Amino acid sequence: MASVDVGIGLLGYGTVGSSVNRLLVESADEIERATGHRLRVVRALVRDPAKERPFPAGDEVLTTDFAEFREDPNVQVVAEVMGGVQPAGDYVRELLRAGKPVVSANKQLIARDGAELFATASEAGVQLRFEASVCAAIPVVKVLRESLVVTNVHRVLGIVNGTTNFMLSHMERGGSYADALAEAQALGYAEADPTDDVSGADAAAKMAILATVAFGSRVGYEDVERRGIEELEPAHVSAAAQLGMVVRLIGIATLVGDAVDVRVQPALVDRAHPLAAVDGAFNAVMLQGDAIREITLEGPGAGGIETASAVVADLVSVVGTSGTGFLQNDACWRSLAKLPSSEWRSPFYVHLEVSDRPGVLAHVTSRLASHEVSVAQLVQKLEDGAATLELVLHRAPYGAVAEAMREIAVFPEVLRPPFVLPVITERGL
Ligand code: NAP
Ligand code: HSE
Repeated sequence: MASVDVGIGLLGYGTVGSSVNRLLVESADEIERATGHRLRVVRALVRDPAKERPFPAGDEVLTTDFAEFREDPNVQVVAEVMGGVQPAGDYVRELLRAGKPVVSANKQLIARDGAELFATASEAGVQLRFEASVCAAIPVVKVLRESLVVTNVHRVLGIVNGTTNFMLSHMERGGSYADALAEAQALGYAEADPTDDVSGADAAAKMAILATVAFGSRVGYEDVERRGIEELEPAHVSAAAQLGMVVRLIGIATLVGDAVDVRVQPALVDRAHPLAAVDGAFNAVMLQGDAIREITLEGPGAGGIETASAVVADLVSVVGTSGTGFLQNDACWRSLAKLPSSEWRSPFYVHLEVSDRPGVLAHVTSRLASHEVSVAQLVQKLEDGAATLELVLHRAPYGAVAEAMREIAVFPEVLRPPFVLPVITERGL
């Protein structure tokens, strides 16, 4: 079979973009053997062409002129590895309208503007793929959209942000929050603005995409309940260790009847649970459904070359299929309601700091009992007339726990507002 050259345009040539070029150059023979195509980067849009690049682009490949990029007839397929909602969104729209297939690593763009971008792609009759936008190297979008297309997936549980997992693993070994973040940035894991990572915004966008694909109903970024790791203190990490658990930033998407709940928040994870073993910048996604029971995918969740592997896989899929194909179609075939947050059920961990006086513990547990919330574990530490209570509560609706905490928070003996996190213990099948 004669080899066919395919011109690739990159929107962005940073950590991921330069790694895509490296992979296409260094694996060109393997790609050609597998696909019959030779993929070459012919144009890359950047802000500053004079900047030093980790893997140099070819001569005259870098440009700052988007119109020149869009009109270049040699650009046949585009990888958007630029980030940000704008101007990336407008560039992608224009390229799709110009008939160029696009693959994107941009979770914020897909989670916020996905519906409109897929409609634009469909009208133009070209493909829009987004594997690299979720969990870097892990092919979870392909698994959900192809392998599990007839499986009723009702829960997606995972660690979907590499930076925060790297930071929490580092803190578990006694490292500081600030050092861990600086190292994650130096290793190319963090977003351009790392607030997106630590605030849970990056993970929320990824969970919106995963829930959309898993449940076939549009879940936008704004639909995701989100809490980051900024409030976590070393005391919470060591309390978790005493309870036989670790702290992880967890994404949970649940289908409850005809309603959907999607959330991202730090949680205590039992050491025996598979997610507790996910270390450093790795990600893991557990897909739970009727026929499959549970499938866990684990692998590198951030990093240039790791993400580039998913970008290149999408490029190969585009050149290997023609027209829009059924996988291109927008996966939202039904419209599900959002589950009220108060009805979401989980076991919870509570950290309470109270005065060491008779009756305080009874007072706390009676408030919990009045909301039918039961205590599973309790550790008490005494120091200077104060007591720290580490409680693990049995599975209960979030609304009941929150109401009990509102009542407990105003007790005169309570010294600080209660700190509450969900706990991941059983696999929830
Ligand atoms: P990055 O290193 O900051 O690279 C961004 C690139 O885009 C740079 O080359 C930059 O140009 C260019 N760019 C940004 N704004 C531009 C504009 N307005 N006009 C022209 N060029 C512009 O980011 P990255 O880490 O490669 O991430 C890129 C995308 O991949 C993001 O959507 C990110 O969420 C996603 N992603 C990243 C990872 C990861 O581990 N890094 C993993 C999965 C997904 P200059 O170089 O001239 O500044
Ligand atoms: N900043 C992201 C993370 C990159 O740490 O997971 C991968 O999407």
